[in-house]
Amino acid sequence: MSNETFEPRVFSGMQPSGNLTLGNYLGALRRWVEMQDEGIPTVYCVVNLHAITVWQDPEALRNATREVTAAYIAAGVDPTRSILFNQSQVPQHAELAWIFNCVARLGWLNRMTQFKDKAGKDREKASIGLYAYPALMAADILAYRATHVPVGEDQKQHVELTRDIAAKFNHDFGVEFFPMPEPVIKGAATRVMSLRDGTKKMSKSDPSDMSRINLRDDADTIAQKFRKARTDSEPLPSEPAGLEGRPEARNLVNIYAAIAGVSAEAVLSEYGGRAFSEFKPALADLATAHLAPVTARMRALMADPAEIDRILGDGANRAAEIAEPVVAQVYDIVGLIRSR
Ligand code: AMP
Ligand code: TRP
Repeated sequence: MSNETFEPRVFSGMQPSGNLTLGNYLGALRRWVEMQDEGIPTVYCVVNLHAITVWQDPEALRNATREVTAAYIAAGVDPTRSILFNQSQVPQHAELAWIFNCVARLGWLNRMTQFKDKAGKDREKASIGLYAYPALMAADILAYRATHVPVGEDQKQHVELTRDIAAKFNHDFGVEFFPMPEPVIKGAATRVMSLRDGTKKMSKSDPSDMSRINLRDDADTIAQKFRKARTDSEPLPSEPAGLEGRPEARNLVNIYAAIAGVSAEAVLSEYGGRAFSEFKPALADLATAHLAPVTARMRALMADPAEIDRILGDGANRAAEIAEPVVAQVYDIVGLIRSR
């Protein structure tokens, strides 16, 4: 079956952590806004049910849900053109996730590298929710029968699992009900690396705050973090091939390219042969000029939480209009009685 029989629709989500990083922004948010601006129907979700797979302080979770909503809007997600909502306000996600728990196989979930990373050494103590997390993500995507899923590189495996679940559901029940959603992983910054270690992903959970740029950081902090970013002592090469074996240099060049909206080649044709002592301040200036308006908008939006709640309420109604009939049909296909 091909996706051509399905209307194109984009779905993506991000966990509510007030600490969004430059990785989230360049790897996901910027792409979301581009896809919205292409005029394809776009559905963007704050995935708070995913967040509670590890412990969350309730008050902090409520606040982070609003803050991430503000970040989406500040980055350019327009709640009148995209559907922007919060996962727990649309109960169809949890309903469909249970059905997918019964479709997905233990063997599939055992291969998920994010579970292995997040559960760490003491797997016995991880929540069942953390293990079943990809089935909930499949439910997010497939409740809208979405065809395209813009994410960073680290989520590719989960989108592939979503395809496996969709295919097994269609096959088991002899239907062509779900599309095979495609991951959209594009651009210079699909994997933004730590500023302290070019082999590790930039992450909101890294214990060192110097390893990442937070969307909340002020201009001085951003400049200081780039200045102190770990690098080697060679000047920049004049072509991308020269970045081989230099992960920190590659990361900074990719960040520059992604923010400026140009290729790594273009960055190196300008900065090739120059020292990091010249390149880092240029990168800091570019990043602060770009991020300052986003951060300022986010703060302004956070000053009016009632307005954010209104936007989320409206988004949830529009999301449920799509998800409810889809889940009702799934119940029917599976043989579950839904009517009261
Ligand atoms: P999360 O913060 O794990 O909920 O991730 C939200 C989105 O940001 C996902 O699409 C991730 O793939 C993306 N993302 C997170 N960290 C990075 C990073 N360091 N580089 C690129 N994309 C990222
Ligand atoms: N698992 C994703 C992450 O941690 C977040 C997510 C949840 C998501 N549901 C989704 C991303 C559906 C894309 C589509 O980044």
